[in-house]
Amino acid sequence: MKSDEQKRRAAVAALGYIKDGITLGVGTGSTVDLFIDELPAHAHRLTSVVSSSNRSTEKLERLGIEVVSLSEVGDIDLYVDGADEATKHLHLIKGGGGALTREKVLAGASRRFVCIVDSSKLVGHLGAFPLPVEVVPMARSFVARQMIRAGGQPIWRQDFVTDNGNEILDVHNLRIANPVEMETRFNQIPGVVTVGIFAHRSADVLLVGDDTGVRVLE
Ligand code: 5RP
Repeated sequence: MKSDEQKRRAAVAALGYIKDGITLGVGTGSTVDLFIDELPAHAHRLTSVVSSSNRSTEKLERLGIEVVSLSEVGDIDLYVDGADEATKHLHLIKGGGGALTREKVLAGASRRFVCIVDSSKLVGHLGAFPLPVEVVPMARSFVARQMIRAGGQPIWRQDFVTDNGNEILDVHNLRIANPVEMETRFNQIPGVVTVGIFAHRSADVLLVGDDTGVRVLE
């Protein structure tokens, strides 16, 4: 079965977490796009919707769903987002689409974070997927050198600017044995805006679409 169908299964399963009157946070990516496609039928149940990227905002608005800023609503009841890698401990790598900073803010502001992935994303250890790190542009080379010292191989995502006006380094070949420790350590490097490890605020629920249905990890 194609991973698109697995993604769709996970996305549809996430609709089951919507309750009447909630504020919904919407992530970014192809799996979330499938979730957004299903949202118009549920929009009347939502008090407000907050988005993690210009891409998702545009898609939501195209479908007639109003998007408000996080500052207008305070906390988010339910946040639904995808991931590039996920473990059974619900630690994630995110940022393949470059939206990691706003995604981390929304995840941090949410009471419940439901992560939707296809089965290829479920891994034993994080790190085969290059770790996205959003950096302030003037700090790019400095941060890249720190990543080399940490054992990684940073590649500048050229011709890409984040919604926040920053740049992305994709760091290959990292051994992420302890995601919480590495997230803490990389967050201390001056010039790093956000590291794509989501371990301090991991997912609360992981919905893994596979060929037979959806596995729920909590
Ligand atoms: C964007 C993300 C996405 O959630 C992640 O890249 C997964 O994307 P997709 O659903 O297209 O596989 O973190 O910044």
